[in-house]
Amino acid sequence: MSVQYHNVVPGGRSFQEYVDIFSLSDEDLNKSILGCGDGPASFNCEMNRMGKSVVSVDPIYELDREMIQKRIDETYLEVLEQTRANKDKFIWKNISSVEELGEIRMSSMSQFLDDFEKGKIQGRYIAGGLPELPFADNSFDLALVSHLLFLYSEQLSFDFHVQAIDELLRVASEVRIFPLVDLNSRKSIHLDEIIGLLVSKGYVVSEEKVNYEFQKGGDTMLKIMHV
Ligand SMILES: C[S@@+](CC[C@H](N)C(=O)[O-])C[C@H]1O[C@@H](n2cnc3c(N)ncnc32)[C@H](O)[C@@H]1O
Repeated sequence: MSVQYHNVVPGGRSFQEYVDIFSLSDEDLNKSILGCGDGPASFNCEMNRMGKSVVSVDPIYELDREMIQKRIDETYLEVLEQTRANKDKFIWKNISSVEELGEIRMSSMSQFLDDFEKGKIQGRYIAGGLPELPFADNSFDLALVSHLLFLYSEQLSFDFHVQAIDELLRVASEVRIFPLVDLNSRKSIHLDEIIGLLVSKGYVVSEEKVNYEFQKGGDTMLKIMHV
């Protein structure tokens, strides 16, 4: 089963948000990194400016810059309005207001858009999507999945999560996923069973607290490693 990208609203996070979300150390930042479902985040672009290596894969990269811009313009205000209407579900600490959230997201997304065409030619933005990724086995040290798996637990089935995580572990030595709550800031209905399954398959699995909380209770990531 493949997810239709138009079902998932884009939202571009910054380099600093990725660092906090995934507890990325200087050593991690020097690894070969896959950003799966990076969409219009500026992580890839900012890492590239620092001379570091990230490949991002996302179905929206099939589109050209204008189409992605259009999609951002269509959904951006709606996302901010939804956030304003559900303000009590978020922690206004790292980000202090809906207006600041809008500024951060817009800045990330415009950095991404300016980098997109060049990055696509350089092979840093690749069109594709879970549960099948266009990479050979063990292509990356670390795969990061921000705001896709577990967040969309109601839209993406348990089986999809299992296949997606298996695929990420095929292409990378280690996988980190954030957040572990769904869109309504409830613990993902798939989480416990997925952890049990991964442990039974022999992976080293841990749920780790991170220095980032925007959705209430969304302050842990899942780390999965080959033995
Ligand atoms: C909420 S956005 C998160 C973007 C970015 N990771 C961030 O944290 O700012 C979810 C992203 O997942 C992408 N997506 C949807 N279905 C996907 C799939 N099957 N495989 C990989 N990415 C997918 C969407 O296109 C979108 O860019």
